[in-house]
Amino acid sequence: VSDSFDRYADSYVDDVQRSIAFARTEHDYFTRRKAGTLVELAARHVGAPGSLRVLDVGCGIGATDRHLAAAFAQLYGVDVSGEAVERALQLNPSVRYDAYDGKRIPHGDASMDLAFATCVLHHVEPGSRPGFAAELARVARPGGLVVVFEHNPLNPLTRRAVRGCEFDRGVVLSGRRTTRRLLEGAGLTAVEARYIIFTTSTRERVIGAERRLGRVPLGAQYYVAATPR
Ligand SMILES: C[S@@+](CC[C@H](N)C(=O)[O-])C[C@H]1O[C@@H](n2cnc3c(N)ncnc32)[C@H](O)[C@@H]1O
Repeated sequence: VSDSFDRYADSYVDDVQRSIAFARTEHDYFTRRKAGTLVELAARHVGAPGSLRVLDVGCGIGATDRHLAAAFAQLYGVDVSGEAVERALQLNPSVRYDAYDGKRIPHGDASMDLAFATCVLHHVEPGSRPGFAAELARVARPGGLVVVFEHNPLNPLTRRAVRGCEFDRGVVLSGRRTTRRLLEGAGLTAVEARYIIFTTSTRERVIGAERRLGRVPLGAQYYVAATPR
């Protein structure tokens, strides 16, 4: 994988925006919804978000971190793309970013309360995914949380967006059950696995109602949250 994202660092938001234009939704909508879900998960399973040390694995240009930096005590990000990491640092000066080789995350064992990856897994070669999951598990402390957000391959609109996205060419999507097994194979216990983003509404009432649909496999994306045993 190494630095293959470097050449998309400048055009990342435009490329994604083009691929979802048919849904008439801003890319930032999806990013904000995931950030909100992450803060809720942290509060529910780990502790007060304002006291937590959190790592964004595969942070890209830091689009998600923009909505998280104020919520968590300390936020870190790592990515295999050096250029993306530089952009992320410009966007979020309070976040500590590092580029790495995609193999060993440059943080200690059990050093994070929460480690998460949003839309990264499908960019990792299937054969390298167990190693990627093991690294997420290694850096999360016992009682902490690992959260993986991914595209839902069962949603036809998601598949269409992936087909139309320049840097998603040839990727192999991972369904909710497969991702759950992957995390369990890394020694984690899944505590929640839910589909999200059924609507592009910004109304709290609509978004609140969506929470009841977590088992319906039609959300644009899903997450699996798991805790070290
Ligand atoms: C689609 S982007 C998502 C970026 C960000 N998480 C977001 O949601 O906006 C995928 C990112 O995963 C990174 N990536 C790919 N393989 C990786 C690996 N093994 N470890 C860490 N990051 C990786 C890419 O460089 C790219 O920045």
